[in-house]
Amino acid sequence: MTNVSRRGILLAGGSGTRLHPITKAVSKQLLPVFDKPMIYYPLTTLMLAGVREVQVISTPHDLPLLRRLLGDGKSWGLRLEYAEQPEPKGIAQALVIAERFLDGASPALILGDNLFYGGNLTAALAAAGARGEGATIFAHRVRNAAEYGVVSFDEHGNPDTIEEKPASPKSPYAVTGLYFYDSEAVDIARQLNPSARGELEITDVNRAYLDRGALAVQRLGRGTAWLDTGTPESLLQAAQFVQTIEERQGLKIACPEEIAWRSGWIDSTQLSRLADALAKTTYGRYLLDLVRETSTSAS
Ligand code: TTP
Repeated sequence: MTNVSRRGILLAGGSGTRLHPITKAVSKQLLPVFDKPMIYYPLTTLMLAGVREVQVISTPHDLPLLRRLLGDGKSWGLRLEYAEQPEPKGIAQALVIAERFLDGASPALILGDNLFYGGNLTAALAAAGARGEGATIFAHRVRNAAEYGVVSFDEHGNPDTIEEKPASPKSPYAVTGLYFYDSEAVDIARQLNPSARGELEITDVNRAYLDRGALAVQRLGRGTAWLDTGTPESLLQAAQFVQTIEERQGLKIACPEEIAWRSGWIDSTQLSRLADALAKTTYGRYLLDLVRETSTSAS
């Protein structure tokens, strides 16, 4: 694997109009998905890709709340920074906002309301994170492709066209909200013109890579869940999905403390300290059990 310098961008602004009135006063990304805030899910996806330096971008109103929740990331072995997006002018604007933070590194951009879960995902993330050239994006089959960026494939399985919310989608494959780019992405985003809806479109960044022959599209199979949480129905479904898996397995999805510890970014003493602070909750007891299980199995 190549040694790519990669930094994460977690875009967690937006207006959340499809969730009004719930999101009139608070960011969608702070809402619970079963037992933890929504933003834990995309943050841990970046962590599983090996990304430890992340800039969280959100609205001026929500940024202080996100900062209160996540802090500087140190206790999870991370370095978190924060930047404002004054108005939701498009997903690709995040690349421009993050330019200084990236400092020439290759960005891994994830949307704050995207939830990924499934076997082999960690390996796919690590491989995409380690790819030094071009862009890697992920496609997932959906029933309602017209609501997404849609990628179609040629007979060799290579990406052929990419369109934003097409009236007649050429394929059922939606582009998910997780994008790995090389360091050229910032310049590409800078040169974009706003679309008819006034946004810098991430689909246009992806198309620029496609036109250069530098876009890799990895199809996530049916064994992978890709959920978005932008409507009351999808939010509830995501919570029920997480509850079902967690209660069956006794393992948590998207627990940053656990991932940091399993990755060796924090040790058992640090994990115990985090667990103690949450001791009254099932979340805290879960962390304590992790420490106990390994100390028993090691003895
Ligand atoms: P969307 O679902 O496209 O928009 P939204 O969250 O504002 O919600 P709604 O459609 O209900 O009004 O956004 C996808 C994700 O990207 C979400 O996590 C918010 C984030 N986002 C930004 O932070 N800034 C932006 O400019 C855009 C377009 C999205």
